Amino acid sequence: MSTPRKQVILGAYLGGVNHHTAWWLPEAGSQADFSSFEHTARTAERGKFDFFFLAEGLILRERAGKIFDQDIIGRPDTFTVLASIAAVTEHLGLAGTINATFNEPYELARQLASLDHLSDGRAAWNVVTSFDAFTGQNFRRGGFLDPADRYARAEETLNAVRALWDSWDAADIVADKSSGRFLARPDAGSFAFHGSQFGISGRFTVPRSPQGRPVILQAGVSPQGRAFAAANADAIFSPYGKLPEAADFYRDIKARAIAAGRAAEDIKILPSASFVLGDTEAEAIEKYHAIRTEQVTGQTALILLEQIWNRDLSGYDPEGPVPDIDPDPDAAPIIQGRAFVHQDRFATVERLRQVAEAKKLNLREVVIDQFERGPLVGTPAQVAEQIDAFVQNDGSDGFILGSHLVPWGLDEFVDKVVPLLQERGALRTEYTGTTLRDNLGLPDVRSAATVPARA
Ligand SMILES: Cc1cc2nc3c(=O)[nH]c(=O)nc-3n(C[C@H](O)[C@H](O)[C@H](O)COP(=O)(O)O)c2cc1C
Repeated sequence: MSTPRKQVILGAYLGGVNHHTAWWLPEAGSQADFSSFEHTARTAERGKFDFFFLAEGLILRERAGKIFDQDIIGRPDTFTVLASIAAVTEHLGLAGTINATFNEPYELARQLASLDHLSDGRAAWNVVTSFDAFTGQNFRRGGFLDPADRYARAEETLNAVRALWDSWDAADIVADKSSGRFLARPDAGSFAFHGSQFGISGRFTVPRSPQGRPVILQAGVSPQGRAFAAANADAIFSPYGKLPEAADFYRDIKARAIAAGRAAEDIKILPSASFVLGDTEAEAIEKYHAIRTEQVTGQTALILLEQIWNRDLSGYDPEGPVPDIDPDPDAAPIIQGRAFVHQDRFATVERLRQVAEAKKLNLREVVIDQFERGPLVGTPAQVAEQIDAFVQNDGSDGFILGSHLVPWGLDEFVDKVVPLLQERGALRTEYTGTTLRDNLGLPDVRSAATVPARA
């Protein structure tokens, strides 16, 4: 019996402040105008994407006290943007990256359930766990959390949020025959949650939302992050867009999910990826190199390496060799406010040196070559083939795609690659589900949700 063809899941990533988004190009639009968000979301919906995705930064990143050039365009609030997009789209999921460390469960549950109501069941939460004191200084309690506890806090936050969502069930609003009015059951919305991080009780203000529980995504690759995702997430925003790492990650997460008592297909792996299209392969490669050169300026190259070396590298020439000194893992962080995903600094430095040597690359060129998560480059037919083959061979279940050009970059993908994916039977031609959960093929938890102990 042949295995059915996997459907490619697609998310549209609207670049925030990172060096991938070339906001300074004359043809680029605003990073904050409603029209930019609207255009990207409408384009994604035209291409039958599963969801629109926003990353989040709670602080402007700094190097040695100066904010990054890219951050001067600011970081708008996620929920406000997603609520505005809900009004101009009909089927597209709305995924927001929201930190579990600095937010409170009651606020999160309320915002997400409200978004789920406003959008008729399209809300998703990408749970991230950045904990550092630099990020925390904007918030009530500063950098209060030991890094070792970031996922314990995330798990408890999520459990508390679920308890709040589950505090209402569908039967909590009943028709009263004698008065002809609808009444809430006496314990509707009552909740009590007590753990090491929170002791909360009361009544939740938002009745059960269309998805029951909005979709949960996670981003983070440490062993704790993987365990948290395997037990709790419906999907992972992964940094592994290239083989063989992507397939290793895929296998690892699916095995962990099964060990946690779940079905492998109940957690979707979605690497972040960029794409560059050309009429010929050679044209696409040329465009790709031009874009990478535009994205990775000498200053950006040094900043990206400083994140690994954790040293001031400003004395190094970006057009010269890779620094010959060792990283300094124990020093105070030189780059503030950036998630660090390279787990072993010494091994990464060694790899960069080997690549530079083998390919005869200077410092900036090695960053251009190595700091790219998984580019899809080629003719539309080649890119459609790359995406489909990657998914069918279990490198992932789909991709979260971002273009360097906000907000017009996605148009070309939707016009040229989407029809080819549809022809292959790898992408829907119409939305079939009524909620994001349905469209992603996730279990329906509207009625299955367990109602927690009532206060
Ligand atoms: C692909 C990817 C995207 C991420 N995006 C964000 C983000 O937008 N905002 C944020 O605060 N943290 C983001 N993070 C950071 C993680 O959520 C997490 O805080 C950090 O990587 C530490 O988790 P870990 O130790 O499990 O890797 C991202 C991480 C990854 C791997």
